[in-house]
Amino acid sequence: MLEKIENILSSASSKIKAVKDLAQLGDIRVKYLGKNGEITALLKSLKNYPSQERPTAGKYINELRQKVEKLILDTENELSRIQKERKLKEEEIDVTLSKASLMRGGLHPITLAKNELVNAFIGLGYDVQEGPEIETDFYNFQQLNVPKDHPARDMQDTFYITDHILLRTQTSSVQARTMEVSKPPIRMICPGKVYRSDDDATHSPMFHQMEGLVVDKGIDICDLKGSLDEIAKSFFGKGIRTRLRPSYFPFTEPSVELDVSCFNCNGNGCRLCKGTGWIEVLGAGIVNPVVLEYSGIDSKVYSGFAFGVGIERCAMLKYGIPDMRFLFENDIRFLRQYK
Ligand code: PHE
Repeated sequence: MLEKIENILSSASSKIKAVKDLAQLGDIRVKYLGKNGEITALLKSLKNYPSQERPTAGKYINELRQKVEKLILDTENELSRIQKERKLKEEEIDVTLSKASLMRGGLHPITLAKNELVNAFIGLGYDVQEGPEIETDFYNFQQLNVPKDHPARDMQDTFYITDHILLRTQTSSVQARTMEVSKPPIRMICPGKVYRSDDDATHSPMFHQMEGLVVDKGIDICDLKGSLDEIAKSFFGKGIRTRLRPSYFPFTEPSVELDVSCFNCNGNGCRLCKGTGWIEVLGAGIVNPVVLEYSGIDSKVYSGFAFGVGIERCAMLKYGIPDMRFLFENDIRFLRQYK
């Protein structure tokens, strides 16, 4: 009996040792511990033993069963560990692989110029307002002292949608809207798109303007000159000088144009400033009292100044861009220079 147990143990353990995978191990379990397995058969045969030998024999067979079970369990654990390790190895990701390089975007020169101007005005305490691009004749012209038959309408080649609705030709429409709903003191800018039927190297049918409006008690042309001088210096450089030249707009009286000394030649005269030493940058003026009254603001108590600046023009001057169309062609080689 003991000999038989020894034999089973040694044959089982050598078979278990030789096992290569879990399937083979399963076969071995069946062979020894299954319903018709060798060890199971041994246990069944116990009933043939004389009763006094039975407990000892039973003890030995149980020990044998536990040993074989343990061997199988240990081998099973070891095989699963090896299998898991192999799987991990196979599925390994090489994190050192270099990735495809990403194209970096950048801001468009118009956006760069706009942001710089907006930030300069915010620094002086201005609010930023918005208004619709599809506008009524009323806000784009009439409220700004440009009635239906006014000759000044010729200055702005207008895209009409109907007799009363148009694409705004100037951000000045937002002055009219702001004055109608706010009480002075008003200090606002409005950057946005405007439209005129015009297309050449210095004009585009869609371009960007930024309107500015200040209304308060005692505002005069010195406030206008001081504020615009400050902004021009922050945009074009500390060294530049500014001057006001008389002009005409129906909604301002007096009206002016602001020139900056040419930053290319320092005012000596060059191609950029056409030999004059000065570059025209924007239109401005003291808000016509009629316009204040149209919007319900008492012109005997309040006065104001307004200005409108072309953002493309500022970007072209600052970055030395010779043709406005470059700004709209979106040639990546051109745009990449201004990131
Ligand atoms: N709206 C004028 C233009 O487009 C500019 C301007 C704005 C002039 C405000 C005076 C005051 O030419």
